[in-house]
Amino acid sequence: MITGTTRLYAIIGDPIAHVRTPMAFNDFFSAANIDAVCLPIHIGRDDLPRGWAGLRSILNLDGFIVTAPHKQESARLCDALDADGAYTGVVNTVRREPNGRLTGTLLDGRGFVSGLTSHGYEVKDRRFYIAGAGGAGTALAYALAASGAAALTIHNRTRSKAENLVIGVGKAFPGCDVRLGSSDAAGHHVVVNATSLGLKPDDALSFNLESADPSALVAEVVMKPEMTPLLIAAKRRGHAIHFGTHMLNGQLELMMQFLGLSTPLTR
Ligand SMILES: NC(=O)c1ccc[n+]([C@@H]2O[C@H](COP(=O)([O-])OP(=O)(O)OC[C@H]3O[C@@H](n4cnc5c(N)ncnc54)[C@H](OP(=O)(O)O)[C@@H]3O)[C@@H](O)[C@H]2O)c1
Repeated sequence: MITGTTRLYAIIGDPIAHVRTPMAFNDFFSAANIDAVCLPIHIGRDDLPRGWAGLRSILNLDGFIVTAPHKQESARLCDALDADGAYTGVVNTVRREPNGRLTGTLLDGRGFVSGLTSHGYEVKDRRFYIAGAGGAGTALAYALAASGAAALTIHNRTRSKAENLVIGVGKAFPGCDVRLGSSDAAGHHVVVNATSLGLKPDDALSFNLESADPSALVAEVVMKPEMTPLLIAAKRRGHAIHFGTHMLNGQLELMMQFLGLSTPLTR
């Protein structure tokens, strides 16, 4: 039951209706008997600074999750970033410190890696193709390189963003062969859609699936629908597929820990 003492958590994004974090957090709060609630908060694409000012002023709000398209601008609005946030300049989880300062981190990439390994897929020494260089693409690239991927090929509609990401990851992880790619995904063990294409049934694919090796695992970051146009096409072509929800499940416990809710998940 929500009472006067209930602590607040939130997820902010635009759109917001597709998010699953509130269900996951609220199930956890109820199973662990924690007096807290997680709310979806719809903040428009062009209204983030005003939205942040509002969040700052809510003193019983202990932290919030950030989703598209707010992850990069939120990193600039944080008072402090931990190492993962600072590396990427992107955040997806923000907590209020006892002194009121807001500290951000990025857990998407580590969640994606955890989702892969928990389903039996290796990251070390594997070659990855990533379509997308926004918040999710950036997170994946740094986390995969940090986890020992042999090679990363990065492709993005806005080429300059992919170029910058290639330079940044290449500098941070010189042992990983990081290259700018095209829509051609050949020669990789894992090919990933890390763009927001796939939320709608008539969305185009973010790369040329027909170019992918038949043995490649085809992975998504988009969670809803679970079977995106990419995964439907990949399954039809006989690829192994990996859902976007595995990435979120992989990082829920990491989010809880960062927010100081360190009780192990009971779900
Ligand atoms: N499973 C999870 O745990 C998880 C975690 C994080 C995000 N996600 C999902 O990942 C998706 C992307 O999130 P994000 O944070 O990376 O968003 P973002 O920072 O806004 O980046 C969006 C990305 O999608 C690309 N894109 C958008 N529309 C496109 C189009 N019509 N054609 C080609 N490319 C297009 C963008 O390319 P440009 O740079 O050219 O604009 C950019 O690479 C969202 O659906 C989000 O829900 C899932």
